[in-house]
Amino acid sequence: MSTNTTSAYSDFHLQFIAGEWQTGKDDSTNTNTNPYNGDTLVEIQQATKDQLNEAYDAATQAQEAWAKQTPAERAAVLYKVVNILDQRKEEIVDWLIKESGSTRIKAMVEFGATRAITLEAATFPNRVHGEIRPSNTPGKENFIYREPIGVVAVISPWNFPLHLTQRSIAPALALGNAVVLKPASDTPVTGGLLLAKVFEEAGLPKGLLNVVVGSGSEIGDAIVEHKAPSLVSFTGSTSVGKHIGELANGGEYIKQVALELGGNSPFVVLKDADIEQAVKAAAFGKFLHQGQICIAINRVIVEDEIYDDFVERFLAHVKTLNVGDPNKQDTAVGPIINEKQVKSLKEKIVKAQEEGAKMILSGEIEGQVVPPHIFTEVTREMDLSRNEVFGPLVGIIRAKDEDDALSIANDSMYGLSSAVFTADMQKGLRFARGIRAGMTHINDISVNDESNTPFGGEKNSGIGRFNGEWVLEEFTRTHWISMQNEPREYPF
Ligand code: TAP
Repeated sequence: MSTNTTSAYSDFHLQFIAGEWQTGKDDSTNTNTNPYNGDTLVEIQQATKDQLNEAYDAATQAQEAWAKQTPAERAAVLYKVVNILDQRKEEIVDWLIKESGSTRIKAMVEFGATRAITLEAATFPNRVHGEIRPSNTPGKENFIYREPIGVVAVISPWNFPLHLTQRSIAPALALGNAVVLKPASDTPVTGGLLLAKVFEEAGLPKGLLNVVVGSGSEIGDAIVEHKAPSLVSFTGSTSVGKHIGELANGGEYIKQVALELGGNSPFVVLKDADIEQAVKAAAFGKFLHQGQICIAINRVIVEDEIYDDFVERFLAHVKTLNVGDPNKQDTAVGPIINEKQVKSLKEKIVKAQEEGAKMILSGEIEGQVVPPHIFTEVTREMDLSRNEVFGPLVGIIRAKDEDDALSIANDSMYGLSSAVFTADMQKGLRFARGIRAGMTHINDISVNDESNTPFGGEKNSGIGRFNGEWVLEEFTRTHWISMQNEPREYPF
């Protein structure tokens, strides 16, 4: 609950379409539950395809006038959003804990990242600029305009719902676009409706932000295939991302896509590393949000000479982590988002042992709370190494030497984030540059996101970059306009 006089937002059972809060017209209902205790938070009647069309119509209509507003007017709305986020911080953190199973620590991290990207986006209206380029044609001037892209479809995931939604919608709106957003079904409030309330309170004109709550398998394709959006910004699994890429480029209307997909981040500890610091980093980078982060550490790779020492200290440290109620200040590991994910983790635990990994830490799974599980003698071929875990299970791989560590690190179809620990910064830089990934952090965890640095991956981790100038390009279109100032001579 908010501590100030502002009353807490309500009516989260409604959709936000064309600037109005309206009941979903589909027969199906989304029952939104707390992943820790199973409490029902809200029941939302889902949206129909007609309501989706209504959202796109509203966005298309509202966008033109919004693009014509001055940069200062658009920036003012974003700054207002930052103020409202600050005023409602406790209310928002509370929602993140109860809806997404975020621990208090993670909810604060997510709030901070959301605030930072909103503040960054507030600078975009004044930062976006075109160019004048020389011409080889006598009398011609070349102007490169950067214009709003139009309507942007945003589809977001449940793990960092507030931030990963805001990371698309704040820049999109700041740059003069309109948005139709579909949050994940596990987090319709923190992934969408809550932000709609904030933007509404900040005075965003009606129709520019629409939140359509519905199941991805029911209305997902219609969101992507619709004529209105020129860009689909999707954050989620690689399998759904591939499907969206196919739809966006193989359907009736071709559109741009920004795909932020799965990861398999290596965390490499070289033999000269500060082991104690690497142990603390590995625990935080692996177990923050129960490991349900696309840039979470997925593979710990340790050079042979220090492997046993690292494992012993890591085990001792992880045993001290508090597991359970996400609302408690000192809980490090809270609940898993849903039963389906818990089931997949149980299967991974069985498979890891069948494949020959040694389980040196486990614990009883109670409800949706899965305690940390550590496996040693893991090889690069095993399921734990090949696939994204998305849970508090970790395999530790032994590398013969630095070259072997790099080869293991790169042995993945993903290329999102990565990390290397070493006392020698030059060696660290050399190693980092050898990794095929969008992001590498030396002597830190793979979980880093700063609003002014490029966030994104390669290989099966996706296409495009968020934050700073990179998202500014992503969410605008380039238009070359030339001006022939004197009659040009044509060959015929
Ligand atoms: P997904 O199952 O892919 O869901 C993501 C979003 O896509 C949800 O809103 C989902 O809606 C929607 N969706 C599902 N099927 C769809 C379809 N056919 N058409 C259009 N939309 C559809 O992923 P998730 O389970 O929420 O998130 C976990 C995955 O996301 C992990 O692989 C993780 O690595 C990745 N992820 C990546 C990043 C970055 S930045 N690369 C960040 C966070 C997460 P419903 O919820 O209604 O199904």
